[in-house]
Amino acid sequence: MNEADSELIAASFLKRGFELTAELKAADAVVVNTCTVRQRAEDKAISQIGRLRVWKEKHPEGKLFIVGCAAQKLGGKYLKNRFPFVDEVVGAKSIDSMDEVVELSFGKGRGTHATRTIFNSPISAFVTIMRGCSLKCSYCIVPAVRGPAEFLPVETILEDAAARIKGGAKEIILLGQTVNAWRRGKTGFAGLLEKVAALPGLERLRFMSPHPLYFDADFFSVYGDNPKIARHMHLPAQSGSDKILKGMRRGYTRAQYLDLVSKIRKAAPGSAVSTDFIVGYPGETEADFRETLSMVGESGISFAYCFKYSKRLEEPGLAPDIGEPEIEERLERLLAEVKKNSGDILNERIGRIEEVLLESEDHGRTSANFVARLEQTDAGPRKPGSLVRMEITGVRKNTLRGKLIP
Ligand code: 5AD
Ligand code: SF4
Repeated sequence: MNEADSELIAASFLKRGFELTAELKAADAVVVNTCTVRQRAEDKAISQIGRLRVWKEKHPEGKLFIVGCAAQKLGGKYLKNRFPFVDEVVGAKSIDSMDEVVELSFGKGRGTHATRTIFNSPISAFVTIMRGCSLKCSYCIVPAVRGPAEFLPVETILEDAAARIKGGAKEIILLGQTVNAWRRGKTGFAGLLEKVAALPGLERLRFMSPHPLYFDADFFSVYGDNPKIARHMHLPAQSGSDKILKGMRRGYTRAQYLDLVSKIRKAAPGSAVSTDFIVGYPGETEADFRETLSMVGESGISFAYCFKYSKRLEEPGLAPDIGEPEIEERLERLLAEVKKNSGDILNERIGRIEEVLLESEDHGRTSANFVARLEQTDAGPRKPGSLVRMEITGVRKNTLRGKLIP
């Protein structure tokens, strides 16, 4: 989501005649888009801002913008007080006003065409369909800094997606904190998927991240029937223990999560599911942690981002009851389990024929979101953005290897 916001912000500059640069000394403006989901992210943002003091001293005419979630949490007053060289602070809730802030700083500009893609390949484009989140997971600061869920209108989403396809995108990734909660009037998420998937020129449709609470029968039927919808879902589980899930206010049990994963695979066999886990949540015992460990194999997840619990909010009655070394040890054990499981899942793909959307001449992604690389000796059409068929022959460095087949 932050990457999508950064692209939107970049577009405000590009249309005023700015260019992106990787050279700090060449920059007339610097935007720090901050995250605060874990304390470490906020700390990183703070030290990055601190380091920009030197840039500002050497380029007093340059403008420094601090935006996003940490900016929202810490506030303009605090940031400008601590870092007097900061020009503008725009919190996550006001990210829509960034265009006006840029205009006030630099004028209307030349209205040049703005290509927004700065993060993922131009083949793949983010389209935000909702902002904020209305759930109340106990550990999560997102609702506080991004506000309640707001769903964008269908027309806006379709226009945005069509513009990205016209600009060369072959894959659209619909974004939202609880992306499948999206609904406008009579149209639910399944209906939206159908409309976006029908846009001419689109090869593949992804979405990120769905929440277990918002799956319905319509979704499974559209997902199963429409091969343009990628056979992968990033479905955050957070924990495998019912006690911890309840404490986290996730709204589902371990059994319900596992059932959902089976339903996804039943609707579209070969679907990959990846997830997020938090370790060391207050009250997590060794037994609770083992429930998380065992869920990795049981759900057959292809990949997991694993995070140490980071205290963001005042949670009544919750103090971490294991120390940092134990949390670190649990994290290592979980990472090892995830790695082993991912290896097994990749190996299962050997011998299969996969459709690969090429991002460069020699690599791309399968529908299930695995990186696939062409064998070097393989001759044939390798145009980035094209969909090719590959026979998977092996696995190396977490990557599928294969050869082109007609
Ligand atoms: N501590 C650790 N991880 C967190 N996440 C969200 N809040 C916290 C927190 N306080 C993780 C969740 C979420 C991902 C984006 O970040 O796993 O899915
Ligand atoms: Fe945070 Fe996601 Fe829970 Fe919303 S659904 S509160 S963004 S973890």
